[in-house]
Amino acid sequence: MQTEAHPLVNKFQLKEDLNPVFPMGVPWVRYFGTYKDLNINIIWPGKDTILGVDSVGTISASLVTYASSLALQPDLIINAGTAGGFKAKGASIADIFLASDVAFHDRRIPIPVFDLYGVGLRQAFPTPNLVKTLNLKVGKLSTGDSLDTSPKDEASIVSNDATIKDMEGAAVAYVADLLKVPAIYVKAVIDIVDGDKPTGVEFLQNLLAVTAALDQAVTEVVDFINGRCLSEL
Ligand code: ADE
Repeated sequence: MQTEAHPLVNKFQLKEDLNPVFPMGVPWVRYFGTYKDLNINIIWPGKDTILGVDSVGTISASLVTYASSLALQPDLIINAGTAGGFKAKGASIADIFLASDVAFHDRRIPIPVFDLYGVGLRQAFPTPNLVKTLNLKVGKLSTGDSLDTSPKDEASIVSNDATIKDMEGAAVAYVADLLKVPAIYVKAVIDIVDGDKPTGVEFLQNLLAVTAALDQAVTEVVDFINGRCLSEL
């Protein structure tokens, strides 16, 4: 979302690409620049062209991941954003998680092997030194296209053994895997899925504070990556 991306654009002193590498008319926005020894691109899926709200969810996430990976050939994708957390699995508001695995919870296809295809389990690029140095929490991430959690979603999330829930991670993972780009998932807990507050209300209440925590964590992750090769992460 814009609220998540803009503080990082400022922090890394990135500029908007006014001659986009993307097809004409799409709302996707690329900010780019150098920070320390790194070339950084922040890709924001932009506002929905019809309704004007942030483009969230798996469709825009997979499209921008595909288009920007082809155009920019990144060494690493960092999918950063907010997520719902499960207190029963140890998540609290403003916790920062690095996902170990990602999977979908709303693609139910009860036919042998298609069931596994629907779940789409993928592992994040392993970063043991990053986790240890920054003292990040690690957990499994489950992705679906709804902010709320239906009983069927909940059963799949339990079966995915997930601690956090978002609307993009597994879609990014699918594309990153297709294009063989290493990907990591940095998620800040903004609402407690198994808590007593309505998700939308809790999300909006915590948005500014948790976005600040996310941006701080992403800066620390980028600072750690700077000067290291992938195998040292
Ligand atoms: N992003 C932030 N909170 C979320 C939730 N509860 N479900 C899905 N995506 C989210």
